Amino acid sequence: MQAAAQAAIEEYGTSRTGSRLLNGNTPLHDELEHELADFLGMPAALVFPTGYQANVGTIASLLSRHDVVILDREAHASVYDGCGMSRAKTRRFAHNDMDDLERQLAASPSDAGRLVVVDGVYSMAGDLCPLTEVVRLCRQYGARLLVDDAHGIGVLADGRGTSAHFGVTDQVDLVTVTFSKSLASIGGAVLGPENVIEYLRHHARSLIFSAAAPPASLAAAYAALRILKAEPWLCRQAVENASYVRRELMALDYDPIPNETPIVSVRLDGVQETLLAWRSLLDRGVYVNAVIPRRLRLGCERVSPPRTRRSSSSVSSPRSPRLAT
Ligand SMILES: Cc1ncc(COP(=O)(O)O)c(C=O)c1O
Repeated sequence: MQAAAQAAIEEYGTSRTGSRLLNGNTPLHDELEHELADFLGMPAALVFPTGYQANVGTIASLLSRHDVVILDREAHASVYDGCGMSRAKTRRFAHNDMDDLERQLAASPSDAGRLVVVDGVYSMAGDLCPLTEVVRLCRQYGARLLVDDAHGIGVLADGRGTSAHFGVTDQVDLVTVTFSKSLASIGGAVLGPENVIEYLRHHARSLIFSAAAPPASLAAAYAALRILKAEPWLCRQAVENASYVRRELMALDYDPIPNETPIVSVRLDGVQETLLAWRSLLDRGVYVNAVIPRRLRLGCERVSPPRTRRSSSSVSSPRSPRLAT
């Protein structure tokens, strides 16, 4: 990936210094769009400078004030911001609560355009969206569906993401992804039907009025996709690594949130315990995110499998004062 990024700098420079619609586009942008669409099994893709901009630009330009957008309460901030910019009527449903989603769909006017937005994998707890059920409800109520799969691409279904994991790729209207997580780069994209992607190419303000993603980032993301295609076991390994960490944490009396994704999320008792545990792990060379007030969050995408298992009795309890020093 680093070699690909360096070669892209040699060929196209460090920056395109302009929007894709002016002087910013390169063959790398187009090739990455084809590669992404092919990999995720969607008709077409549009690359944005970041995943944040992909969400904001897609949602804000597709919806108008006559439409209704229905979000999972825990959707990403970029989804909320896109909804705010669109001026569509925004309704929220309780996290992963399909009864509440159905209530919101039933309560929204059937003659309005309706868009449901969910994350494939929720970033804080690492839990999966019940996508089969969401698809069923969208079909029943004639609503369109956008899945933000920032945390699904590159890990679930040999990297093809949450829609492929549930076998519903052909029933999801739009998918947004980021390159800033499992693809180890920067950038984002929206995938969907060709006519919608073409519309977005000419209307998404966060694409048109922002400089194109730099060549090195695109080349790195492209190389990452090729690696995923060639070595799908890497995705399974990431999930297995996370299961290993979860099992070991449970052996230490912790209570990680059970899920099938590489995000390990552990609730602690409060701000102080969270910060002490975070600092103590850092001092031992383990970086995790401290999510205040009471959560440690660990992405296992790049954790190597341990060669030998330490017996849990040889590890001090993380709840003991020793961890907190
Ligand atoms: C669920 C989700 N969507 C979108 C984004 C935005 O991605 P990017 O970092 O490419 O702007 C993130 C990043 O944190 C995310 O977690």
